[in-house]
Amino acid sequence: MRHRLLLALPLLALPILTHAQTAEARVTAPAGARVFRLDGNGVTYALGVDDKGYLRPIHWGAAVAEGDPLAPPIVAEPSSFDPAPTVTAQEYPGQGEGLVTDPGIKVAFADGNRDLVLKYRSHRVDGETLTVELADISQPFFVTLRYTIDPATGVLARSASVRNGGKRPVRIDQIAAAVFTLPAGDDYRLSYLTGRHAAEWTLKDVPVTPALTAIESRRGLTGHANNPWFAIGKTGQTDEAHGPVWYGGLAWSGSFRISVAQDVLGRVRIAGGFNPYDFGWSLKPGETLETPVFYVGYSGHGMGEASRDFHAFQLTHILPEHARAKLRPVLYNSWEATTFDVTEAGQMALAEKAAAIGAERFVVDDGWFGARDSDRAGLGDWTVNPRKFPHGLKPLIDKVKGLGMDFGLWVEPESVNPDSDLYRTHPDWVIGFPGRPRTEARNQLVLNLARTDVRDHILGWLDRLVSENDIAFLKWDVNRRWTEPGWPGASPADQQRLYVDYVRNLYWILAELRRRHPALEIEGCAGGGGRVDLGMLRWVDEVWPSDNTDPSDRLAIQDGFTHAYTPAVMMAWVTDSPNWANTRVTSLDYRFLSAMQGGLGIGANLLKWQAEDVATASKWIAAYKTIRATVQRGNLYRLVSPEASASTSATMYVGRDGRQAVLFQMLHSSMWRDNPPAILPQGLDPARRYAVRMLGGGALPAGVPASASGAYWMATGLRAPLKGDFAGAAFVFEAL
Ligand code: GLA
Repeated sequence: MRHRLLLALPLLALPILTHAQTAEARVTAPAGARVFRLDGNGVTYALGVDDKGYLRPIHWGAAVAEGDPLAPPIVAEPSSFDPAPTVTAQEYPGQGEGLVTDPGIKVAFADGNRDLVLKYRSHRVDGETLTVELADISQPFFVTLRYTIDPATGVLARSASVRNGGKRPVRIDQIAAAVFTLPAGDDYRLSYLTGRHAAEWTLKDVPVTPALTAIESRRGLTGHANNPWFAIGKTGQTDEAHGPVWYGGLAWSGSFRISVAQDVLGRVRIAGGFNPYDFGWSLKPGETLETPVFYVGYSGHGMGEASRDFHAFQLTHILPEHARAKLRPVLYNSWEATTFDVTEAGQMALAEKAAAIGAERFVVDDGWFGARDSDRAGLGDWTVNPRKFPHGLKPLIDKVKGLGMDFGLWVEPESVNPDSDLYRTHPDWVIGFPGRPRTEARNQLVLNLARTDVRDHILGWLDRLVSENDIAFLKWDVNRRWTEPGWPGASPADQQRLYVDYVRNLYWILAELRRRHPALEIEGCAGGGGRVDLGMLRWVDEVWPSDNTDPSDRLAIQDGFTHAYTPAVMMAWVTDSPNWANTRVTSLDYRFLSAMQGGLGIGANLLKWQAEDVATASKWIAAYKTIRATVQRGNLYRLVSPEASASTSATMYVGRDGRQAVLFQMLHSSMWRDNPPAILPQGLDPARRYAVRMLGGGALPAGVPASASGAYWMATGLRAPLKGDFAGAAFVFEAL
């Protein structure tokens, strides 16, 4: 019998429904049994209180029927080396009773006790949210767990907060947002995203074994090396289109850790939250500490569906304007064309060229402020450089607006060059340990955003900059990680609050700036893709996935990126050839076809382009505008991964209303005798007829009919007869 049954709130402005097309979530807590379940989009997540009072995981996966017998499993003690409490999987275990898996929370009480045993205290259901309170068995120490399920995607949001109800501080050494448990099995595989600067977003996978795998950052910011995302599938069952996938992303932009390991009974334990490495928080009497949110989902139909559901969730629940967000305008950015050598005349000349090919936004990158002629000086001095812009930014902005574009500017608010007026005035504003050397990276130090004066200073100049100039867009960059993570002036017990307070203040600045300037759009950048996560995606409209703009490398980068994040935020620029990073030579057509698979930008030196290049670019930009809603908001099908095939790759985007779909086919290299198989589209409506055309114009390849049913296209496939190296084509399907 249910004592609460509450239906979904109609809070989605524009419903983006996924495979099961359900829009109802249920959070139920039947009386007596003390079992709670959250249901949405064919997914059931169930937990319950056992006879000893532990809060226990019961099920996370495909939906089970209403009234099915859900109960915490009975645990048999395998041996005296693994006593019952240590093998009882808990929803959020305290580090106590000899726990040997990663805890939800590990603390030290002021009397030296480090044994924390959390048991059920109460629960509440409000709409789609379940709240469960736990308490230690003897200390006034409380943990509140929150669970919310999204009806359309089945994505579950979990977080925790802890409260010290005692009279003395409690030291928190480790705290997760959530802990998850999957049933015993030796066939799980963990996928994660890794890389480094200019080579981000490589998808790797490893077997899940008793050897703990940690996906983590110890760098103060998310970092290029590990992204806070995971996906777990089953060997032999899970691929792009089939099999179970449990996945998730942590909404945190600082040092984080997601750990995955099999426990002694072969179950998979997943914990994610603040990185315990160098963490420490002295929780004062009466104080509460909130964790970030860990968003997780389940798909029974492979990695492709898992990403599509997660993308839909990001569009409707994470991105700043949710489903009302504007489509990404075609932007021009001058960084690769000019680097630091920006001048009013030079930027105006580029702006004329950019407008002529169809750009809608013109962005001046690094070099416009302070004494910024290289990366050695000026960072921190956010006043317009009078030599480069003698009349301020206004003449350039007026020119850009007169050309029909809006104006954007690069900023790096969190860093400072020691050679800057800001640093000379406030040498105490940077992170470091007093009296010890501080490592410089790109000749810069990290401003201590955890300080409220630094936070207010940054908001102050950004607010002035945006208020005094007609700025539609900021590219918010950060170009180094932390080293020597000290907070000069903070007490020894509170030093490590830096890891949390810095990130919270970063979000606070972004939130406040957006509140004061609702029309402002922001791009998140960290030397490329060094800070892309669900925490940042709440405050930025788009991200810069990588400084690597080689169009072929970019296909692999985009393939990895979209496993976790929506193409709606994934910017990609067409730049010059040979590419600056790897000297690869590619055609302008190929560069466009690669970049059009996300938010399109141009980063080439247009002053060097020939008339023919201008015509080619104009053609592709006009073509992109006819499909960008499908690319940015549609469902993505990774048909042939660039990682899986040495010669060809293909992606397909299907509009959510089913009216349009676009298939990109890319050839990396070929031998003259190659005869690659047809590419089979996915996601079309089998019963609907579609006309097909080549994106950018031109005749259909021989043998490809001008129209046919979705069933026909998906059964027989199609391909363009591409030859040589680095070639591409795109087919557009329009429902008739
Ligand atoms: C970082 C960014 C680049 C560019 C430079 C400017 O590397 O990722 O796109 O903005 O900084 O210094």
